[in-house]
Amino acid sequence: MTDTVTAVAPANIAFVKYWGIRDEAEVLPANPSLSMTLSRCVSRCTVGLLGADAGADEIWWRGADGETGPAPRPVAEGIRAQLRRLRGAEGPALRVVTGNTFPTAAGIASSASGFTALTLAVTTLLEGEPDPGRLSVLSRLSGSGSAARSALGGYVRWPGGPDTPAGPAVQVAPADHFRLCDVIAVVDDGPKATSSREGHRRALTSPYFARRLELLPERIRTVERALWDRDFAAFAEAVETEAVDLHLIAMSATPPTFYWQPGTLAVLAAVRALRDRGVAACATIDAGPNVHVLTVPEHAEEVRRAVAAVPGVRHTIADEAGYGPYLCDDHLTPP
Ligand code: PMV
Repeated sequence: MTDTVTAVAPANIAFVKYWGIRDEAEVLPANPSLSMTLSRCVSRCTVGLLGADAGADEIWWRGADGETGPAPRPVAEGIRAQLRRLRGAEGPALRVVTGNTFPTAAGIASSASGFTALTLAVTTLLEGEPDPGRLSVLSRLSGSGSAARSALGGYVRWPGGPDTPAGPAVQVAPADHFRLCDVIAVVDDGPKATSSREGHRRALTSPYFARRLELLPERIRTVERALWDRDFAAFAEAVETEAVDLHLIAMSATPPTFYWQPGTLAVLAAVRALRDRGVAACATIDAGPNVHVLTVPEHAEEVRRAVAAVPGVRHTIADEAGYGPYLCDDHLTPP
């Protein structure tokens, strides 16, 4: 048996968002959601067995500067809790070294990719490589529900709602069916003020939440059909409506949550201007100020240049539809 496993798992961007939790223990969503798994925004996680005399797990964090040191407290706590779930109280002590290729906790699904990479590495080490369905369920139990979708590549639906059993996310189309690009306009790469867990709780207090749930089944069908037909115009309209809807729920919750910053609105205006010029572009925003501008490969560089020039945009990340998590031998090492 190998004593070290490294897993790489991508972030995902939701076109129809999971917003509202109906069972916190099982991490079950109030609604179905649909996302695209990314390619370059990934987490890498190496898990190794420590010797029998090791008392406790070691958790290391590899920062964006390439330096490895003790993991920040909230990151370490989340990892320890997931280790307890996956291994139980009696399992062997483990060394975890993990990091992201993109800003952490800034609305770019770093917890989805991070927990999926951790779950894939630990499960492979202790019991053998899980299939994507099992990885989806185990990753979700970390508390990051959207991790359910990072377990698969391409375009992914996570079922949800009051009458939906607690199943895994499923792929609705592979990445190569429709090659969408995601130009991420980073307005702020610091951690967001209100966690998505808190946002999910608050969502249920919005007077518009029940109406959102009524509208979602049709919206998810529209987005799936547009992806399947490679119909960017239909896709763009539904995706932008949905993005605004999430933030409408957040802003009208008790207490209200404002994720947008002035730069967010400036990027939204720039995207509308691009579309008026005939460029295929539409915007979506997760629980943070950064804007994901979705486009097609032929327009990706024009979109990136336009968005990078918007006042308030610190930098851009060019990403695209990807193929899902995988194991590799490129291990991260502790300091
Ligand atoms: O998986 P969480 O608990 O971090 O929630 C994700 C929430 C959104 O990113 C706003 C929407 C989504 O479906 O990814």
